[in-house]
Amino acid sequence: MDDFSFSEQLKLYEEMKVKKLVLFIVLPLFAITVSCGKGDSERVIKTDVPSRQAGQTDVLQLKAAPLPVVRVAFIGLGMRGPGAVQRMTHIEGVEIVALCDVLESNVKKSNGILEKRGLPKAAEFYGDTAVWRKVTALPDVDLVYVATNWQNHAQIGVQAMKDGKHVAIEVPAALSMSEIWALINTSEQTRKHCMQLENCVYDFFELTTLNMVQQGVFGEVLHGEGAYIHGLQPYWDSYWNDWRMDFNRKHRGDVYPTHGLGPVCQAMNIHRGDKLNYLVSMDTKAVGNPAYLKEKRGEDVKDFRNGDHTTTLIRTEKGKTIMIQHDVTSPRPYNRLYQIAGTKGFAYKYPSPGGFALSSGELDEKISKDHENLNAHGFVPREVKDTLMKIYKHPITKDIEEMAKKVGGHGGMDFIMDYRLIYCLQRGLPLDMDVYDLAEWCCLIPLTEISLDNSSAPVEIPDFTRGGWNKLNGLKFEN
Ligand SMILES: NC(=O)c1ccc[n+]([C@@H]2O[C@H](COP(=O)([O-])OP(=O)(O)OC[C@H]3O[C@@H](n4cnc5c(N)ncnc54)[C@H](O)[C@@H]3O)[C@@H](O)[C@H]2O)c1
Repeated sequence: MDDFSFSEQLKLYEEMKVKKLVLFIVLPLFAITVSCGKGDSERVIKTDVPSRQAGQTDVLQLKAAPLPVVRVAFIGLGMRGPGAVQRMTHIEGVEIVALCDVLESNVKKSNGILEKRGLPKAAEFYGDTAVWRKVTALPDVDLVYVATNWQNHAQIGVQAMKDGKHVAIEVPAALSMSEIWALINTSEQTRKHCMQLENCVYDFFELTTLNMVQQGVFGEVLHGEGAYIHGLQPYWDSYWNDWRMDFNRKHRGDVYPTHGLGPVCQAMNIHRGDKLNYLVSMDTKAVGNPAYLKEKRGEDVKDFRNGDHTTTLIRTEKGKTIMIQHDVTSPRPYNRLYQIAGTKGFAYKYPSPGGFALSSGELDEKISKDHENLNAHGFVPREVKDTLMKIYKHPITKDIEEMAKKVGGHGGMDFIMDYRLIYCLQRGLPLDMDVYDLAEWCCLIPLTEISLDNSSAPVEIPDFTRGGWNKLNGLKFEN
């Protein structure tokens, strides 16, 4: 007979139940959880993050000594550069002191712009691809403005800062992770500004939307989209030395992501309270560009790397998503898509002129007499959009909108960009965009290529601030 009392048997049974529970349910579940967690993080491809030198600190909200007069040197005067020279002649307190390009004719043409505007001629530098080194070394220059081809942006930027100049670099300012880290490290070590000339964040719709986002009109922004969809067939043969086709030929991935990504990152406070965590990318095969090369140049290119259409998804630390697209060959309407989706509303632009959709209750009678009947299932009517554009006009455009539209450059946004750059330098304010914005927006170029070459594997986007992404509370354009 069993010597155990009922209560003892019950106790043993309970203990066995617990043991069984641990053995057959809890342990396997734990093992699955642990292995899933480990597997997930192991699936993410990581790139090296260089450590900071002793004494080197971040350049968040970097301020430099005010420069009442900003002496500017331009390097790269092809299709894009002369427009910047022209715009800068309209900004008070700017002296254009040097003009540089490989080609003499380009330098002379830009000096002609100064002459026409009644300004003193700038010193001329031309003749070879190393001539820019004389320009970054000039003693009486405050800002080097770079609009050369992509392949030499970072090298010129690093040298300009080492030579004691602030630098502003056309998009994309860097093509590889090593170029990106070189720009960050040099800016941190020299305490010089390094700004990417991303003009699309200054378009009127994007600026107004940013202001609405910051005032909570869209609730919490959860998703954003951006794109560069622009058939470049009319331009391919105009780029110096075929640099753009050459880069597309050799690289898969989103090679021109900053126009689409910049405005979305600003609306999401990236490295000012949130950060980009990882991306996955997928592309189509390459058809359009090899066909162009065959038809126009008689070349039979079998190994063209850049797919016709590349789509990239990004997830942020705070659980938001971004979709970015690139297509420079398909017969489609020009599309620099900009889309913000929040918990209370939606903003959208391109290829149509775009508009806003807001949940009922988000508008009052000051904005629309019909406000009670509006909801987010459709865009607000034209007159309501116009009213919102007026009410939420971004403060930085208020004084200069008229002049920006007169001087031009993509409808005025290019002028606002140059104006803000000079405005902040003159007053010793932090610039609207810092070197970490440059890094975050350019890193898609190398990281999408890694993802695509690994069957769309997730690739980590490093914290380029190296620990500072949550120090700032939102984006602020200083005044
Ligand atoms: N933000 C925008 O809306 C926008 C629009 C167009 C172009 N861009 C950017 O502007 C940059 C230039 O584009 P582009 O269309 O003018 O190209 P481009 O080929 O017309 O001009 C490049 C110029 O750089 C010069 N150059 C090349 N190497 C040089 C060197 N080592 N030293 C001095 N000069 C050198 C070339 O002679 C050429 O004149 C690119 O980064 C492009 O992506 C931006």
